[in-house]
Amino acid sequence: MTTDEGVWLRPLRRDDAGGVLAAFRSNADMARQGDVTTPADAERYVENLLAPASAHRPWAVATGDGLAGLVCVSVDAKNRNGWFSYWMATAARGHGWMRRAAATVADWALTDGGLERLELGHRVNNPASGAVARAAGFVKEGTERAKFLVDGRRIDVDTYGRLRTDPPPRYEPLPMRGGAR
Ligand SMILES: CC(C)(COP(=O)(O)OP(=O)(O)OC[C@H]1O[C@@H](n2cnc3c(N)ncnc32)[C@H](O)[C@@H]1OP(=O)(O)O)[C@@H](O)C(=O)NCCC(=O)NCCS
Repeated sequence: MTTDEGVWLRPLRRDDAGGVLAAFRSNADMARQGDVTTPADAERYVENLLAPASAHRPWAVATGDGLAGLVCVSVDAKNRNGWFSYWMATAARGHGWMRRAAATVADWALTDGGLERLELGHRVNNPASGAVARAAGFVKEGTERAKFLVDGRRIDVDTYGRLRTDPPPRYEPLPMRGGAR
């Protein structure tokens, strides 16, 4: 069994494709995180994040059992902004690991990562994502009304931002092993 001490962050690797596929297969709610249903899709997903000129800075949430989740900062270098996203495989959810992972990566992005603003959005019917965002120091900035069409219903999206100058959250960081690209 994985304990809290057995969870850490490290840069995503090409050999994580199998873990990505397992995570996407673990829950129907992963469908909105990308188009991954086959091994080839998973390899493409990872390749896209790791491409040499890519703006993505993907951090794996790792455990002794393998890839548990992902926190990714997609950099808009011109504005020193980052789009923030995250997901967790179903079996690894509910331990508070994503709250800690998101807070750790957000702090990294706004210090060593050189960014000045992070932003994200989540569907209002996905309250766990909002809890993670607030735990990582993000502040709700607004609501994009009826932004997405999901199963025939238009769904609002809450938008969040965190500035380098915002007060950092209080949390227990996860260890970061290995530097980002
Ligand atoms: C969002 C996601 C990453 C959360 O992962 P997780 O492992 O549950 O996260 P944590 O355990 O670190 O924390 C979850 C928080 O959400 C809360 N939460 C979970 N389900 C909830 C619900 N239905 N309603 C309200 N809060 C909820 C938990 O209580 C916890 O907050 P707390 O510590 O203040 O109690 C995970 O559900 C996921 O991967 N979803 C699919 C992908 C996704 O939606 N990504 C975000 C896109 S914007």
